[in-house]
Parts: sequence; structure tokens; C-alpha cells
Amino acid sequence: MQTSLFSFDSAGDSLDDKIRECKKCGLWKTRTHAVPGEGGFRKKVMFVGEAPGKWEDIKGRPFVGAAGKYLDELLATIGLSRDDVYITNIVKCRPPNNRDPTDEEIRACAPYLEWQIEHMRPRVICPLGRFSAKFILEKFGFTMKSITAAQGKIYRGDIIIIPMFHPAAALYHGKWKPELEKAFATLKSVLDDMEN
Ligand code: URA
Repeated sequence: MQTSLFSFDSAGDSLDDKIRECKKCGLWKTRTHAVPGEGGFRKKVMFVGEAPGKWEDIKGRPFVGAAGKYLDELLATIGLSRDDVYITNIVKCRPPNNRDPTDEEIRACAPYLEWQIEHMRPRVICPLGRFSAKFILEKFGFTMKSITAAQGKIYRGDIIIIPMFHPAAALYHGKWKPELEKAFATLKSVLDDMEN
């Protein structure tokens, strides 16, 4: 893994404060709240979504809208809850009207996610959706042709990566739901193997 472009002096809380005050790209001008992430500090599994939406921006918490409710349901299918994992996004502020994040915004925000990965040391990262899957796979030396080809596969390295369809995309394209549910079952089998 590359090292962060800049380093932070102390643990998660101070990073969260830095994210809440961040002005490294233009998204601070339209945000209500930046959304650093939520969950346990050193959990085995980290989910990385794309960027906060309307409700996440209002509440300052990740995945609290319809996609978040579905994510909670998916976690429950494998016996997990939010407290068992860490949930964050590749871009920590809402792009206006939920447009796709730009390369520049992803680049500006990436050091925060890099810090979270380095310090929280997840054993498994599940990128949700194409932006996050591409960023995470490339960061760990893999290439991604498309999210449809990558999702549900297990990429093994120092950290195991299981890219998944974004829950919002699966809600929109109902035919992706079984694939996403299968990817959660794959995550469960990977976690079960770690126990043995
Ligand atoms: N979609 C995301 O990618 N992240 C959130 O936090 C909410 C919706």
C-alpha cells in the first residue's frame, strides 16, 4: 500500500475533526456535514461507499438513507450489525445533487481513507460501487475492468478485498440484488475461515 500523502498526529477522533473541517476540495462549500465514518475503530471488516447523500449530509453519519437501511438488512443476513464493522466513504462530503464524485475530489479526499485503512487495519475491505471498488483495487495493485466483473470476487493480499455492487444501485437495478446478497454470503465464508 502507498503511504498517505500526509500524516495525522493522533487517532481516529482527531482525524474525524480534521475531516469535519476539511476544505481540500470545493465540496465544503455546499455540505451541511462532512461524514468521516462510523463503527468500531479496529474491526475486521471495513465497508467503503461512494459519498454521502442527502440524509448523510444532514445527519453527518454514513448510510442512513434507503441504501443504509438495505445495508443494515444485508449485514443482518450474515449475523452482523453496524457495531461489528466500520463504514465510511471514499469521498467524505456530499457532491451536489448526488452527482458522481470527480477524480479531483477523490484525489483530495483519498488520504483520509488511506489513514483509516492504515490505522484501523481491517482484515477485509468491501468497496461498495464502482468508484470505491476501482480506487481500492488499484491501490492494492489490482486492476478493475468493470464493477459487474469485479463484484463478489475475492481479491487476496495483505488485506482481502471483496468488491460489491452499491446497495443504492442494487435497489435501483433489482436484478443486482441477488448478486449483492451472494457477495455478503461470500464475506461471511471469508470471515468464518478466519475463525478456523
Ligand atoms: N451512499 C454512499 O455511497 N454512502 C453513503 O454514506 C450513503 C449513500
